[in-house]
Amino acid sequence: MRVRLTSGKMLPIEMHKVKIVQKTRLPAIEQRLTAIDGAGYNTFLLRTRDVFIDMLTDSGTNAMSDNQLAAMMVSDDAYAGGESYYKLLDAVRDVLGFEFCLPTHQGRAAEHLLAKVFVKPGDHIPMNYHFTTTKAHFELMNGTVHEIFCDGALETTSTNPFKGNMDVSKLQGLIAKYGPKKISFVRMECTTNLIGGQPFSMGNLRAVSELARKHGIPVVIDTSLVSENAYFINRREAGYADKTISEIIREMMSLADITYMSGRKSTCVRGGLIATNNRKFFEDIKAWLPVYEGFLTYGGMSSKEVEAMAVGMREMCDYEVASSSADLIEYFVNLMVSAGLPAVTPPGGLAGHVDAMKFLPHIPQSAYPAGCLAAAIYLVSGARPMERGTVSMDRDRNGNDVFSDIELARLAVPRRVYSMAHMEYVVDRLKWLKAHASLVGGLKFIEEPPVLRFFFGRLAPLNDWGRKLADAFKADFGSEC
Ligand code: F0G
Repeated sequence: MRVRLTSGKMLPIEMHKVKIVQKTRLPAIEQRLTAIDGAGYNTFLLRTRDVFIDMLTDSGTNAMSDNQLAAMMVSDDAYAGGESYYKLLDAVRDVLGFEFCLPTHQGRAAEHLLAKVFVKPGDHIPMNYHFTTTKAHFELMNGTVHEIFCDGALETTSTNPFKGNMDVSKLQGLIAKYGPKKISFVRMECTTNLIGGQPFSMGNLRAVSELARKHGIPVVIDTSLVSENAYFINRREAGYADKTISEIIREMMSLADITYMSGRKSTCVRGGLIATNNRKFFEDIKAWLPVYEGFLTYGGMSSKEVEAMAVGMREMCDYEVASSSADLIEYFVNLMVSAGLPAVTPPGGLAGHVDAMKFLPHIPQSAYPAGCLAAAIYLVSGARPMERGTVSMDRDRNGNDVFSDIELARLAVPRRVYSMAHMEYVVDRLKWLKAHASLVGGLKFIEEPPVLRFFFGRLAPLNDWGRKLADAFKADFGSEC
């Protein structure tokens, strides 16, 4: 939540208190250099013992509430018919307004099942933007993903409050070109992960939904960050300032035929689900659930997580919960902007993002600027970002790199985990890095998996720039920092 100080400044104040803490440590610069070298300049391959502030993701790293932890203790362990599932089902009915619920072990498992049931070879799937695992699953079924984002969505410096909107006229064009039968479904992601956690508006969702439904095409919403998207609608869209997060979520879901989510984000657990009011869709997906996930009443999740997800589903409707990471992200992004750093604006729902093409203009996309920036940020700060650029795109069928629309280093802000001091520290080190940006060089792959290469791929610096950057850092801060 934001409170106004006497100076007029808005402060992102925490509406919770800390009950349990985990100790962290800041490894010295030489240790960080050894660690990033050992990790093949891929921040996924770092061990957390070498990380000071873990901003890789908000997935499965949000702090759970006392009520969630308490709920875990009363979970009902059963292979079939466990009561924990029925609590989740009640929460899905109350919060999302869907009758049927299929738990999955995480979000990509839901994507797998949707791909299996809905995507036929030669199908087309329009979306406001892809997510890595989404695209991989739909393409593995020989479907084609179409990103029909709105004008200006890829401009990293912007005042457009809803860069996650879909271009409705492009959707109309795709339906006319391929025919509704060749379109598996239309997918709206809240919030668009890869273009900076940017939300879509209710007005846009309504227009997309009306058009798709007119042609009998199902609307699928990826609700991984639904409470954040609802919070942005409350703050940024005319007519929603007086609506509660619950009301906004219910209205969003009324425009969808199916929803799925990674429960690792808005609901703060480790799981996922698919929900719908359509009995046929439910039955079609249910048939595959025990093959890939588990029985209907746990779907691959531990019953403790199912129980905690039921609580998290309700808690995410609290204004203070829905706003907690979004407000800290806004503070973080504003600090970066004041420091002259090329942060993605407006602030989004899961991270502060830095535009690597602007930060490292001398590095061409073929040398992976976002990967270089993510590794360099870790080296100078101990904060661990994630590459969200060309490294996160797999090669095309001819083996060529597919250059990403935008090259971002993503610094995720998990919910209720880090403080304003952490943000100030990271921005300070980013400022230092910007002043020494010319020392950062390119990267090349030395080990490259064929699918989702960003997870396990290893890269090498083109001219020993890690060493040079570490030496410059030591000259300014000493070897202890
Ligand atoms: N959809 C969106 C929008 C996501 O952000 C994610 C995961 C998934 C689906 C897949 O869910 O991880 O539970 O299997 N995003 C994580 C991230 C990995 O770091 O942003 P999952």
